[in-house]
Amino acid sequence: MKHFRKLKILLSLFVLSVHADLPCAPRQYEETVVCVCNTTYCDTVTREIPDDGNYIVYTSSKSGKRFSKSYGFTQEQSYTSDNESFDLVLDVQPEKMYQTIEGFGGAVTDSAGINWKSLPPAAQQHLIDSYCSEDGLEYSMIRVPNTSSDFSTRPYAYNEYPINDTKLTNFTLAPEDVLYKVPMIHACMKAAKVDVEVVTASWAPPTWMVIKEQNSGFQYVNEDYYQAYADYQCKFAELYNQQGIKIWGLSAANEPLLPFLLEVKGTQIWTKNKMAKFLKNNLGPTIRNCSVQDIRIMAADDQRYTLVPFFESIVEDDEILKYIDGIAVHYYFDESTPPAILARISKNYPDKFILSTEACVGFKLTDIPKVDLGSWKRAKVYIKDILENLNYNIIGWIDWNMCLNKEGGPTWLKNYVDSPIIVDAQNEEFLKQPTFYAMGHFSKFIPRGSRRIEVSKIIPTEELDVQELQALDQSYYDSVAFLTPTDTIVVVIHNEAANTKSANIRVGQQEFFVKLDAESVTTIEVA
Ligand SMILES: *[C@@H]1O[C@H](CO)[C@@H](O)[C@H](O)[C@H]1NC(C)=O
Ligand SMILES: *[C@@H]1O[C@H](CO)[C@@H](O)[C@H](O)[C@H]1NC(C)=O
Ligand SMILES: *[C@@H]1O[C@H](CO)[C@@H](O)[C@H](O)[C@H]1NC(C)=O
Ligand SMILES: *[C@@H]1O[C@H](CO)[C@@H](O)[C@H](O)[C@H]1NC(C)=O
Ligand SMILES: *[C@@H]1O[C@H](CO)[C@@H](O)[C@H](O)[C@H]1NC(C)=O
Ligand SMILES: *[C@@H]1O[C@H](CO)[C@@H](O)[C@H](O)[C@H]1NC(C)=O
Repeated sequence: MKHFRKLKILLSLFVLSVHADLPCAPRQYEETVVCVCNTTYCDTVTREIPDDGNYIVYTSSKSGKRFSKSYGFTQEQSYTSDNESFDLVLDVQPEKMYQTIEGFGGAVTDSAGINWKSLPPAAQQHLIDSYCSEDGLEYSMIRVPNTSSDFSTRPYAYNEYPINDTKLTNFTLAPEDVLYKVPMIHACMKAAKVDVEVVTASWAPPTWMVIKEQNSGFQYVNEDYYQAYADYQCKFAELYNQQGIKIWGLSAANEPLLPFLLEVKGTQIWTKNKMAKFLKNNLGPTIRNCSVQDIRIMAADDQRYTLVPFFESIVEDDEILKYIDGIAVHYYFDESTPPAILARISKNYPDKFILSTEACVGFKLTDIPKVDLGSWKRAKVYIKDILENLNYNIIGWIDWNMCLNKEGGPTWLKNYVDSPIIVDAQNEEFLKQPTFYAMGHFSKFIPRGSRRIEVSKIIPTEELDVQELQALDQSYYDSVAFLTPTDTIVVVIHNEAANTKSANIRVGQQEFFVKLDAESVTTIEVA
């Protein structure tokens, strides 16, 4: 048996040398490296499926590892080594199953499309492959703003003219759709081996649909035009469908409560009552009857603290609940609202999914610089948020702009932020930030259809003194585990500690040992 295994590893090493991954071309910044891609070079990573009794470990770390691979065999659990000889002992229980994963991805905003197109064609292809192909992060979902968003070079809506045209006789896509967003989505669909699911949210209705309140300055959609606004959503889906892009899901509005917090030109405010009325009388019936079938309607599409008014209160009316397939949630200021709200929703509404539809770093006023090259701190923000959300039953996590320029734009609202890929058009290259690899440790290894399974930390029961307990500090680690559609088990572990830790992972009767690098994220796939 042992010899056979040795033979297998020799064979797999042989295969590996044929399909060797291209390593990161590192450029060092203060905290850690970014990986540089240009017209002729870009790092790649392939997901190898382990044979029975084998496992594969992928590590990315502050010290500069990027999907660094190692291999090993599991062994029969012996229990000879006591639980305290490891920093971390994880017990994976595949029979305890939770939510099914839909996918991971990013947003094709106008700005992402413009930056992508600013590169020479060969580098454009590297960028798409980095995100969508089997050599890259294997993204399976894309979010596309319907009309302009803050990540556009100008505000615009469809069917601005003729005014009061409730029949939407002049509804056409904007140049931004045709030149940037549609081609970028097509390129990703072509590179991906799975169906790329597209979700959307509407940002800006035509000006004639909007009422501006004199005192507050708030803008509302005129109730007289609710039906036209609902038709507008269906029309958008139809026009994208004609381009071969099927809308998987949509929300009624992006961040409906945002204008209460800050003035953002071009966004409409929705009160709970207005949203309820719109969903029940207009959007729900219209989308159910749209010629593009099976579009999922998502409530909220705003921060966690809006889930009570924009989901829980609204769906007290069954006539509204029946139109809602799931809840879209953004991650900004998550620290202000504990994830218990997500647990409550999955418990009370087990047939409604929760999808994380927007996140980015560098958005806070105190986040200077907006684009922080080589920041591991920001990668940690992604890792921790994705882990937390997955452990609270979300079915997918969609990042914001897939790429931005070195300033964090363009954005006509000067709302500069960071992105996992920073495009430097002048030098015909793009830089993959640590956040890119943070996304990949999940998106690449947790394919659609994977089920989350129980993973628990075994805390030693022996009496330990304070120092020993500190040495074992369990709070450094966070983890999540999945059973994939091909029956492998994927475990993702975040080690926040400043030193290397040892972990013992137990699955059924098998166990194995892995080293968790200091300040690292590790994905392990085991069969
Ligand atoms: C592209 O990157 C590779 C690897 O870093 C480097 O060897 C090559 O010179 C670069 N090409 C250009 C045109 O900058
Ligand atoms: C380690 O922990 C497991 C689970 O709690 C327990 O079954 C096992 O007996 C422990 N092993 C030792 C040697 O204490
Ligand atoms: C239709 O929309 C375009 C801009 O998208 C505008 O130039 C044109 O005047 C509109 N047509 C009518 C009849 O209003
Ligand atoms: C559009 O409709 C509003 C009322 O909703 C009316 O006040 C306005 O005059 C109309 N404009 C045009 C150009 O028809
Ligand atoms: C596009 O936006 C309009 C209004 O801005 C909305 O009525 C429509 O539902 C949106 N379409 C989709 C597919 O989200
Ligand atoms: C559904 O759409 C068809 C054709 O688009 C239309 O004739 C019908 O009135 C619509 N039904 C509802 C309930 O909106």
